[in-house]
Amino acid sequence: MTDLRIQIGNIEFKNPIFTASGTFGYGNDVPDFVDVSKLGGIFTKSITLHPREGNPPPRIVETPSGMINSIGLANVGVDHYMREMVPSYSTIGTKIIMNIAGSTLDEYAEIIRKMESISSDIVGYEINISCPNVKKGGMEFGVDRSLTAELTKILRSLTERLLIVKLSPNVTDIAAIATAAEECGADAVSAINTVVGMSINPTTWKSNIYTVFGGLSGPALKPIGLAAVQKIFHSVKIPIIGIGGITGSLDVIEYFLAGASAVQLGTVNFQDPSTGERMIDELETYCKDVSIDSISSLVGKVKN
Ligand code: DHB
Repeated sequence: MTDLRIQIGNIEFKNPIFTASGTFGYGNDVPDFVDVSKLGGIFTKSITLHPREGNPPPRIVETPSGMINSIGLANVGVDHYMREMVPSYSTIGTKIIMNIAGSTLDEYAEIIRKMESISSDIVGYEINISCPNVKKGGMEFGVDRSLTAELTKILRSLTERLLIVKLSPNVTDIAAIATAAEECGADAVSAINTVVGMSINPTTWKSNIYTVFGGLSGPALKPIGLAAVQKIFHSVKIPIIGIGGITGSLDVIEYFLAGASAVQLGTVNFQDPSTGERMIDELETYCKDVSIDSISSLVGKVKN
């Protein structure tokens, strides 16, 4: 039997297949044909201090090998989330990581203070410092080393749960931002969030997205994600969660070889939300075929 278990901080996950924020709702409302208990964990959509309607439509457009979205962090807000969603996690059968977003340092901190004031089964927080679609906050933090450091330090002081910083690819030096997160107490980083993109209708001459720009995701991102993970791997010791364009189990292997210790599936969930659970058997078979006992032994083993 291949060992698919992985460890982040003091938490063990049954396998390294997670769902990416924004592609699996709050984890409690998935179709019947999906067995979430097979997954290593679920990263919720971004939750903010106050409820948000998000951006006006059109806010999603398909592109070659991917899609662009500009949802604008539409979500129910932390109070509703605590009341209506969190209780269901006690029986969900997989681990939940809550993704949080804010427009000020205080907003991020207030969300964590609220969450830490109740008992819950959430195992950690993923900090979205990389949303490209809001005027304030979001990517503003993720492109700035000192803001990333300050935010991570504040949030670290508020929780002993996992703190995972989600990095933006829209930067000159992603490894420097990852290092700042590590130095200030992050347990892991996830990389990458979406790449700023645009799509234009040549008939109307208008952008296909109301906010003009959006976040590009899907298979087009895999080479960018792999390069980011490899760069970060050479700079930090904490685990890296690889994200970007994964559609099959061999993509997962590539991310491991580049330096990821786990992965998140995003855009593929819109095609088929059961992709993740199907990959688990395939990963076991791959590991058996190449005679390795533990998937973790692949981490960073690309031959350069
Ligand atoms: C949104 C947030 C993101 O972090 C992202 O990468 C793309 C879109 C959003 O809510 O608009």
